[in-house]
Amino acid sequence: MKISVAHKLTKTDALIVFVPEKKFTVKNYKAFLPTEITDEIVTRMKAEDFKGEKNEVLQIFVSSASSEKIFLVGYGKDDAHTDIMKAAGTAIRKAKKSKAKKVVVAIPEKVCAHCVSKGAYLGNYEFKVGDTSKQFSPTELRILTVEKIATKDLKPTTTLAEAMCFTRDLINMPRNLMKPDDVTKQAKAIAKGLLNPVKLKVMTKKQLTKLKMGGILAVGQGSTTDTKVLVFEYYGGKKTDETLALVGKGVCYDTGGYSLKPTSGMLDMKMDMGGSATVLGIFHWIAQNKPKKNIIGVVGLVENMISADAYLPGDIITLMNGQTCRITNTDAEGRLVLADCLHYVKTKYNPAKIIDFATLTGAVIRSIGENTTGVFTNEAKFLEELQNAAKTAHEDTWQLPLNQEFRDCIKDQEADIVNWTGKVKAGASMAAGFLENFVGDTPWIHCDIAGTAYHDKGSALQPMGATGVMVSSVVEMLQAK
Ligand code: BES
Ligand code: ZN
Ligand code: ZN
Repeated sequence: MKISVAHKLTKTDALIVFVPEKKFTVKNYKAFLPTEITDEIVTRMKAEDFKGEKNEVLQIFVSSASSEKIFLVGYGKDDAHTDIMKAAGTAIRKAKKSKAKKVVVAIPEKVCAHCVSKGAYLGNYEFKVGDTSKQFSPTELRILTVEKIATKDLKPTTTLAEAMCFTRDLINMPRNLMKPDDVTKQAKAIAKGLLNPVKLKVMTKKQLTKLKMGGILAVGQGSTTDTKVLVFEYYGGKKTDETLALVGKGVCYDTGGYSLKPTSGMLDMKMDMGGSATVLGIFHWIAQNKPKKNIIGVVGLVENMISADAYLPGDIITLMNGQTCRITNTDAEGRLVLADCLHYVKTKYNPAKIIDFATLTGAVIRSIGENTTGVFTNEAKFLEELQNAAKTAHEDTWQLPLNQEFRDCIKDQEADIVNWTGKVKAGASMAAGFLENFVGDTPWIHCDIAGTAYHDKGSALQPMGATGVMVSSVVEMLQAK
């Protein structure tokens, strides 16, 4: 869907008018809507057919209007950005249902055009493998406003929505269609052609063996597909500028291995590459917007499967950092993948800061639910920076504890460390304690997106499935001064 800004109403298939709750003022719309339409809105609101409550939609009929279908959408009393995004998502779905190709959204002053474009783009997202002939999507969205804003000003936002939908696609694709090789293809597409200066390094099992990445290799041992680590190198800043590293867990399917998951727990485990899809989504945006920053992305792509070759509970493996690790639970595989990726990026690139994204633990969902990302850090200031960006991006995060208890619990008698212990109940913190061991003093944030990356219920901004969470927050951070 192409999104642009307009200041005058022209011929369209559907017109969506944003209306605040109980407060429709004709003069705010006079510049771009004909009086037949504003009169009809006044009448409908007087009759209380429509109040402008959040996400309320009403179709109105005006004989001589320039548009064929007119919808009013409410966004509540304030100009709150999340409400505006949701209203845009709700409205675009109505327009979609009405089979409108060209859609105009008329917004009064103060309603944020960025939020309208993001909400509409996200709300328009659909995922389907198979017969898409009955699907219908608007191809053009024009935002009608009196504000002095031009189409090009929306680019950071529209490309962000695109990047989030790219992340969603990767996650929503089932495992048989999105294996490590398929993710690699997607990464190559980002790095290619137009999208310079993003460089991509693809490391196969052979190279990972040379690098002694014993963690990710052990997890992939039971799979017939090639385990891979991808590295994006993007130097948009000066040579002397600091480098930010983004690391993602890319377990393309997590059966749990021999610590097998039960049927219900396994069903959605195609989403266990959500961390890697987040990193790819961020690089999708970087490639389009070329921020003046130096950014490295590392994703570990692997499948956690069962076979005669699979790793087993009781195995002792050697990680890239030289530490031995006893496996007590093959379902705690994400931390082994990240351990090698974190050590690799730290030693090879010496980044000033690291953020990792992972659908790491079921425990984080039990602690803080499905709408808040659990964050952990070894550097409060850095976390503040990300959490401020997350606030601007309207994504919820919550810091969870990472203290000595969780650093100590990974110690083992037989090996240097252990990947899981039943003695610790706070599973998300235990996993964070494990990861911290690999970053040393480098300022680092771990984002556990197990609850937030994938929702089994839809909302105004998406159908059920992948959300694209944390792409916005990081993009916001890259844009902050
Ligand atoms: N991929 C899962 C975590 C997960 C659970 C993501 C639910 C999304 C939804 C991870 O690899 C895992 O299996 N974690 C286990 C760890 C435990 C066995 C130590 C968990 O949290 O249940
Ligand atoms: Zn697992
Ligand atoms: Zn997993």
